Order: sequence, then C-alpha cells, then structure tokens
Amino acid sequence: MDGRAPELTPVERRQRSDHRAIEVGLDWLAEATRAAKFDIDAVRALVDLAARHYAAEEPFLAALAIADPKIAAKLRAQHDEALEIGARLIESLEAGGVTDTAYLSRRFLAMAQHNIIEEERDVFPLMERIAENQIRPTTPAETCFRSR
Ligand SMILES: [Fe+2]
Ligand SMILES: [Fe+2]
Repeated sequence: MDGRAPELTPVERRQRSDHRAIEVGLDWLAEATRAAKFDIDAVRALVDLAARHYAAEEPFLAALAIADPKIAAKLRAQHDEALEIGARLIESLEAGGVTDTAYLSRRFLAMAQHNIIEEERDVFPLMERIAENQIRPTTPAETCFRSR
C-alpha cells in the first residue's frame, strides 16, 4: 500500500454511480412511505431504475460466480426479490393503495438497500483483487472486468 486510494475499475465506478441514483430514489420512497403519499409514476420509475441496474449487473454477477458462486447467487436472489416486491408494490398502488402498500414499500426499500450495501462492502473488494490479478480464478472474470 502506498497510501493512495485504490483506483476503481470502470465497471465498479458505473455500479457505484447507479447505486447513488437508486439511493436518491430510495430516500424519496422512505419519505413517501412515512407520509403515506405515493406517486405511482415515481414508484414505477424507481423500480424500473433498479431493474435496469440489475440487468446491467449480469456480467458482473457472471464474473463473480466464477470466484464465488454462493455470493453471486445470493445477490441475484436479492435482485429477483426486490423486483418481485416492486411489482407487487406497483400492483397495490394500481389497486388504490389500500392494502400492503406501506409494508411492500418498506420491504422493497430494505432489499434494494441491502443489495447495494452487500455489493459495496463485500463484493467490490473481492472483484478488485480479481481485477488486480491477486486472485486468478479463471480468465473470463478478468476479461469481463478488464474490458469494461
Ligand atoms: Fe445489485
Ligand atoms: Fe448494484
């Protein structure tokens, strides 16, 4: 270590910037949940933002699966669950938002935030070591990260 902050790989930089955008939406949703005032179009936009981010993370998960299949499967399950809850939240709002809306909103918030925290805390350091060749599981992971 020479005291400098480690450089982020391009894929990681993009993921982190997506995460910050999603978190702005999650802050808004937390406030909307507290006030029990939901703008359905904003909820749709937030769930769509998460869906596009998760889809864009697929190559990252494929690379991660080579190094650590368990963590990759866990993160993918979190994505699936967040999107499932998000779809139910939108359905609930379309039906008038009388049942389960606050509960579904809180679950979506918790799952989406948890996924971001786990990726940044546990997974990015691992992927950095792979990208730096300190871990050399196979070439596809490396190729994925070096080509982004
Ligand atoms: Fe994710
Ligand atoms: Fe992510």
